[in-house]
Amino acid sequence: MNKADRNFDRLAERFKKNIYGSDKGKIRLAVLWQHLITQMPQLVDGPRLRILDAGCGLGLFALRLAELGHELVLCDISADLLAQARDNFSEQQASAVVEYHHRSLFEMAAQHHGQYDLVLCHAVLEWLAEPPRSIPALQQLVKPGGHLSLMFYNVNSLIYRNLVRGNLRKVKSACFSGEANTLTPQNPLDPNEVYGWLTNSQFAIRDRAGIRVFYDYMDKRSKERLPVEAIIEMELAYSRQEPYLSLGRYIHLLAQHSV
Ligand SMILES: C[S@@+](CC[C@H](N)C(=O)[O-])C[C@H]1O[C@@H](n2cnc3c(N)ncnc32)[C@H](O)[C@@H]1O
Repeated sequence: MNKADRNFDRLAERFKKNIYGSDKGKIRLAVLWQHLITQMPQLVDGPRLRILDAGCGLGLFALRLAELGHELVLCDISADLLAQARDNFSEQQASAVVEYHHRSLFEMAAQHHGQYDLVLCHAVLEWLAEPPRSIPALQQLVKPGGHLSLMFYNVNSLIYRNLVRGNLRKVKSACFSGEANTLTPQNPLDPNEVYGWLTNSQFAIRDRAGIRVFYDYMDKRSKERLPVEAIIEMELAYSRQEPYLSLGRYIHLLAQHSV
């Protein structure tokens, strides 16, 4: 069993190509962005907010928020990805104040790097050795009344995809952890467990969306035939409707620190 949080230093190139250089990455970014700004329209036309991107990776989502004029703080345990995030920010000459911390989200919470109006934690929990430990740390980082934008890898999507592909032995084994050095996470998460961790803390879940509710189940030919814009349009149409929401490869939720 893996016992450490997964540092992406050795996965940086593959992550960049497979996740952000692909239609998968475009769909993920588009649906996540649309959901967040619909739920928090103040990000577009409100005052400047102080935002932490915990486990920022390449920082591409944070960059969009910086372009709207917000103040960004980025942290990651991967020096390589943090350096690439810094390059991405300087290339775009994002005007907002940006701080970079080569630290884990746990260290950010423990060392009192302040509290934030909004904390982003996207596709990080499933790479942690002990995902539930992150919730008290994230709570410490979000100001009372502030928001958490949490996106995590949904184990039910992995189970369903294996079922429709006929990988029944894999499903029976109930072993869904990815191998070291692959882009399949070590701890795919059961959404009901995550919702429980949040509601047992001081977070109230305000809204949820599924990210890639059908794309990951499509056959290769349909993926190639359809323009990505058409896929994004339909992903957006179904991302907040059950039962599709719960089949998303990732679940994104917006929670508010209720104290
Ligand atoms: C799949 S990437 C996601 C990056 C980015 N948030 C995104 O959505 O594209 C996961 C990132 O979490 C980082 N990470 C893993 N454990 C962490 C921790 N305890 N604190 C901060 N970052 C962590 C990894 O180094 C990696 O950059």
